[in-house]
Amino acid sequence: MKNIEKYLRENGYADRGLNEKFEFRDIHKDEADQAVEIEQICFPPHEACSKAHMKDRIEKVPELFLVAIDKETGKMAGFLNGIATNEGKFRDEFFTEADLNEPTGENVMLLGLDVLPQYRGQGLATEIVFNYLCREEKKGRKRLILTCLDGKIKMYEKMRFVDLGISDSVWGDEEWHDMCYTINVEGK
Ligand SMILES: CC(C)(COP(=O)(O)OP(=O)(O)OC[C@H]1O[C@@H](n2cnc3c(N)ncnc32)[C@H](O)[C@@H]1OP(=O)(O)O)[C@@H](O)C(=O)NCCC(=O)NCCS
Repeated sequence: MKNIEKYLRENGYADRGLNEKFEFRDIHKDEADQAVEIEQICFPPHEACSKAHMKDRIEKVPELFLVAIDKETGKMAGFLNGIATNEGKFRDEFFTEADLNEPTGENVMLLGLDVLPQYRGQGLATEIVFNYLCREEKKGRKRLILTCLDGKIKMYEKMRFVDLGISDSVWGDEEWHDMCYTINVEGK
């Protein structure tokens, strides 16, 4: 099946009423400070993207951010960001070198999924990921690849990512798993 949006909605993966409370869209460059702050809240210092790298990413690759905006406050509640590439394997340089972005790359390396604590537990991260998938399917991407720690494997499996085993990544001196979502879901 080519149309992920149709598949996800038919199978109850998305559209849990969150579109009424949140707007899902590309980031605006003047929202960089909000993203920096959210990243510092969501991740411990050794895992978080630095302010400089986050700003560089937003400057150079804004089209690969997807933010959820609380319609009541107009502020960001969470976001997902990535970098496009024709490479097939995750490496840590994607975290720090926004210049590696290949705009028409067939894959997207996902660099961070953040939801502010007060917005957690209502499916917002899932909705952000699925909005991202739908958007990138339209651009013809083949795979979305991310790294996660042991404790998050099940969460991403629920979002239909597949665990590829231990990653080459040594980000923050931790052991990561590579996980992959193949966008063409035909036959799955
Ligand atoms: C992880 C995070 C993005 C989840 O956000 P959320 O909006 O609460 O997630 P959802 O409500 O969409 O939850 C989706 C599923 O993941 C699971 N899950 C949620 N948070 C989890 C966590 N911290 N650890 C393990 N599983 C988790 C839930 O069980 C849920 O499944 P369910 O709906 O069947 O119960 C959020 O807690 C966060 O920003 N944490 C800090 C940053 C982080 O760890 N990001 C991911 C890095 S790999």
